[in-house]
Amino acid sequence: MAELRLGLRGRVSGTRVLHMVVPTTDTELVVTLNRLIVADYDAIEAYEAAIPRLSVDEDRRTLRRFVEDHRRHIDKLSVFVRQNGGRPVDHADLRRIVAKGKVVIGGFMGDDAVLGAMCSNEQETNDVYARASTGSYVQPLRLLLARYLDDERQHREWLERRIIMTPKGETILPCL
Ligand SMILES: [Fe+2]
Repeated sequence: MAELRLGLRGRVSGTRVLHMVVPTTDTELVVTLNRLIVADYDAIEAYEAAIPRLSVDEDRRTLRRFVEDHRRHIDKLSVFVRQNGGRPVDHADLRRIVAKGKVVIGGFMGDDAVLGAMCSNEQETNDVYARASTGSYVQPLRLLLARYLDDERQHREWLERRIIMTPKGETILPCL
């Protein structure tokens, strides 16, 4: 833990301090990372409701891959939370599940509606990761967050493309 705390505050090598830009306290860092973890859990809950409702095997496979990305984010970010003295969140945001997650998606019928809802959800996940990425972090966290933001962009972009390709050419819920 001590080594990582140093890593986040600025790696000390002998008398040399390599990184000193520290916009967050350890507590703020833990809060930020836990916010990302909640967003990942929210996404997983929504995908698990969405996947069985899709009619195309390839779509289901792709969305399962996205679920695995979100699980990987949770696993890695949880390590950073623990190493910085925090306790990683281990569940989704119940209010969000009811408002936009599996409860809502569970009531949808049709690929267009499900994919449209997931695209909107991914937009929110993108926003959470984009906001977090505006902070300054030392490596390896900085690289990790950049990769995860890229994962999220790819999820959203795939959904946007897929919605355009749906036979009806329209969505019940817009992907904003
Ligand atoms: Fe995602």
